[in-house]
Amino acid sequence: MRRNVLTKLLLTSLSFLVPLLHTFAQQLVAPAWPLAVKNPFVNAWFRAGAGALPFNEVFPEVWNLLESTATDSSLGWFCGVLVDGQSYRLQGGGPGTASTQVSVQITPTQTSVLHQVGPLEVTMNFVSPIAATDLTRQSLPFVYLTFTASSMDGAPHSLQVYTDISAEWIIGDNSIPADTADEPAQNNFVILQALQQTAMPFVVINERAQDASAILATANGNGVRYGVGSDVRARGMNATTPALSNTVESDITSHALDNPWDTWGFTVDLRNITDMTTPFVTAIGVIRDPSIQFAQLSGNVENRSSYYQMNFSTPLDIVSFFLNDFDNSMNMSTQLDTQVINDATNISQSYADLLSLVARQAMGAIEITLSKNSDGSFNSSDVMAFMRDMGDIGGGYINAVDVLYAAFPVYLHLNPDLGGHLLRPLLVAQDNSKYSQPYATRGLGQNFPNATAENVAHNFGIEESGNMIIMLLAHLQATGDGSLVKQHYSLIKGWADYLVQFSMNPGFQCVQTSPSDGISSVNQTNLALKGIIGLGAMAKISDFVGNGDDASLYNNAASSYIDSWKTLSISSDKTHLLTSFAPDSSESAGLIYNLYADKLLQLGLVPQSVYDLQTSYYHSQIPSSKFGIPLDSSNPTVARADWMMFAAAASGDDNILSSMISLVHSYTFTPSTNVPLSPLYDPTTGNSVSGINRSVRGIISPRSFTN
Ligand SMILES: *[C@@H]1O[C@H](CO)[C@@H](O)[C@H](O)[C@H]1NC(C)=O
Ligand SMILES: *[C@@H]1O[C@H](CO)[C@@H](O)[C@H](O)[C@H]1NC(C)=O
Ligand SMILES: *[C@@H]1O[C@H](CO)[C@@H](O)[C@H](O)[C@H]1NC(C)=O
Ligand SMILES: *[C@@H]1O[C@H](CO)[C@@H](O)[C@H](O)[C@H]1NC(C)=O
Ligand SMILES: *[C@@H]1O[C@H](CO)[C@@H](O)[C@H](O)[C@H]1NC(C)=O
Ligand SMILES: *[C@@H]1O[C@H](CO)[C@@H](O)[C@H](O)[C@H]1NC(C)=O
Ligand SMILES: *[C@@H]1O[C@H](CO)[C@@H](O)[C@H](O)[C@H]1NC(C)=O
Ligand SMILES: *[C@@H]1O[C@H](CO)[C@@H](O)[C@H](O)[C@H]1NC(C)=O
Ligand SMILES: *[C@@H]1O[C@H](CO)[C@@H](O)[C@H](O)[C@H]1NC(C)=O
Ligand SMILES: *[C@@H]1O[C@H](CO)[C@@H](O)[C@H](O)[C@H]1NC(C)=O
Repeated sequence: MRRNVLTKLLLTSLSFLVPLLHTFAQQLVAPAWPLAVKNPFVNAWFRAGAGALPFNEVFPEVWNLLESTATDSSLGWFCGVLVDGQSYRLQGGGPGTASTQVSVQITPTQTSVLHQVGPLEVTMNFVSPIAATDLTRQSLPFVYLTFTASSMDGAPHSLQVYTDISAEWIIGDNSIPADTADEPAQNNFVILQALQQTAMPFVVINERAQDASAILATANGNGVRYGVGSDVRARGMNATTPALSNTVESDITSHALDNPWDTWGFTVDLRNITDMTTPFVTAIGVIRDPSIQFAQLSGNVENRSSYYQMNFSTPLDIVSFFLNDFDNSMNMSTQLDTQVINDATNISQSYADLLSLVARQAMGAIEITLSKNSDGSFNSSDVMAFMRDMGDIGGGYINAVDVLYAAFPVYLHLNPDLGGHLLRPLLVAQDNSKYSQPYATRGLGQNFPNATAENVAHNFGIEESGNMIIMLLAHLQATGDGSLVKQHYSLIKGWADYLVQFSMNPGFQCVQTSPSDGISSVNQTNLALKGIIGLGAMAKISDFVGNGDDASLYNNAASSYIDSWKTLSISSDKTHLLTSFAPDSSESAGLIYNLYADKLLQLGLVPQSVYDLQTSYYHSQIPSSKFGIPLDSSNPTVARADWMMFAAAASGDDNILSSMISLVHSYTFTPSTNVPLSPLYDPTTGNSVSGINRSVRGIISPRSFTN
């Protein structure tokens, strides 16, 4: 009965919101639909853009292998239904008649696909819950897939749902045999588990973790029957023979993954239905423990577990919690959807569309972890979060500092504590006598899930030091929690001293050798500005820890530098900011997106006249821009969605804000791409900047509502 109300409520609020609704006749084609986007290893998408194959013909794919032709990117995840003795395929290739796809609706936590199958309408709702302030729920690497149906002719029709997974969720090499758990029926649940035969801790092959188990589960009850083995899908979808017989075949371990393909599947008999008010709920996820290996410069290597592991001890515990939590989780997800979409719509409908696509992308990129005490218990005060660079824009680093900077507004908005959990491992890794660089690191190695402290020289000193100090102050302002800056003060002060020395002379820092990667000019105005804002931020941090001498030192530096910066950076005709203050760059122009940090932190370093100047430059560019404004006018084929959003938010001009968001929206919904949203693109064509082998995926940065 309670569910009855809930379902109606959900449908009402979703149809009220109408985010990203597209029927297949209409336009607004999302490049890829997020299906299961909850964790770096639960990241499955359907590519809906250019060259899309029907949803009921192809399997969902691993987030960053979408363009790869060399490797198998598919994740076996099949869904079908038997209606009045006829079988229909809803998702993936395989037996049954293809359903008719009617529409899809995407909200920040849900992707809802409507099919027609014979006399029924069937809705598949993929829910990747976002619970940013509840680290147990947020870290659970599980999503829901629910099914509801209603009769189109008003008469009852019999309905069975069939779904399965393959071991492709956890094995990235088809020549490796899988293993299986033997007793799927446990208490009131059916828990199908594909396992590794030989777990390889922290090893990743083709984006699949080789130390994991994949789970497909549902509540047990009348009419649920399962099967594990080679012809399960054919039997589960065959209306003329008895359904699956609750058996697990024993030969799974004896052959390669693909010879033959085994599936872990079940059917549920929902009997005659006219209008289903209670959805049929399934759960799918990937469990790993430990989940992160964190190596320090001292040589100390620590295993870290996902946060939720503290609350559970067996897969049954995890899955039963997750399935029992469905009503609550749907309430929370729907509330979050409503809140995000309402807040965003106040800025523009385009912004709401964008957030509907990227909210899961930002949250699903992080693994929230705890360490264990020597007695094996969890240390619940040692929370660290690790972000996988879901693309190569941040150099592939873990907690890539510049990707964090781009995504930080999402965390500030949803739960600013997460920002602290992400910054802490970076601080811990560098607050060590063996770290000898005068500036901040780029990240924690490039081999997720192996987070590795590195003492490596690089060319992004101002960039990363500025980013770190800006994010530390943003976190401090949003939470009032000064423990990080107090504990690591001298490390952070070292970065500020570096900024004092180099901000006004960035020279060749951040100069991209390949123009398609970004800005290739020297003495970048925007970079110098980041350094100066970093100094302004450091002054506030020094103030906070009670060090008045440092505060005035950094304040003085910031205010004298901003004066010189203005002199160097304003074009001679006083119409815009230059992107480079090198002598031969007097014609340069572009996105000066670091102005955003001055606004976010409310430093007031940059005078309003400079904002006005730059805003009028953006105004002048909008009419001739199709998909975006180039980062740097000397390279008109490169734009970045995240920096467009930062520049727009900094302008403080509502027209510019909505116009620039519209440009990013046009790029996002241009049918020429079919990958999870990538920030780097060509603003003249709307194509992602990526070749067949260049997966550039990342996170678009929404404006922070807390701003
Ligand atoms: C870390 O975990 C791996 C995989 O379970 C295990 O082989 C290794 O012994 C653990 N190391 C420590 C220090 O506990
Ligand atoms: C992580 O480190 C382990 C050794 O501890 C290694 O076997 C594994 O391949 C590494 N993973 C990645 C993604 O590099
Ligand atoms: C269904 O099962 C029957 C009996 O085993 C078999 O003859 C028939 O070919 C199967 N149908 C399909 C579509 O696999
Ligand atoms: C389902 O409905 C059909 C006719 O629509 C009827 O023949 C059948 O007996 C019903 N089955 C059940 C279990 O009620
Ligand atoms: C998980 O465990 C922690 C520590 O005992 C507790 O505070 C938290 O409420 C638990 N979360 C859930 C969802 O049960
Ligand atoms: C879900 O929300 C509805 C309406 O706010 C409320 O009546 C219901 O108790 C909630 N259910 C759960 C499980 O939280
Ligand atoms: C939109 O935001 C502005 C500024 O915060 C606020 O004054 C206004 O009430 C909001 N409008 C709506 C419809 O929420
Ligand atoms: C738990 O972690 C915190 C933060 O790292 C640390 O200060 C504390 O000593 C740890 N507790 C134990 C019992 O090791
Ligand atoms: C960059 O600017 C500094 C300070 O104005 C100047 O000394 C230096 O020569 C410039 N570098 C280049 C490569 O133009
Ligand atoms: C893909 O790119 C990587 C890194 O640039 C390179 O090592 C690899 O050889 C390339 N693979 C193919 C198939 O081109």
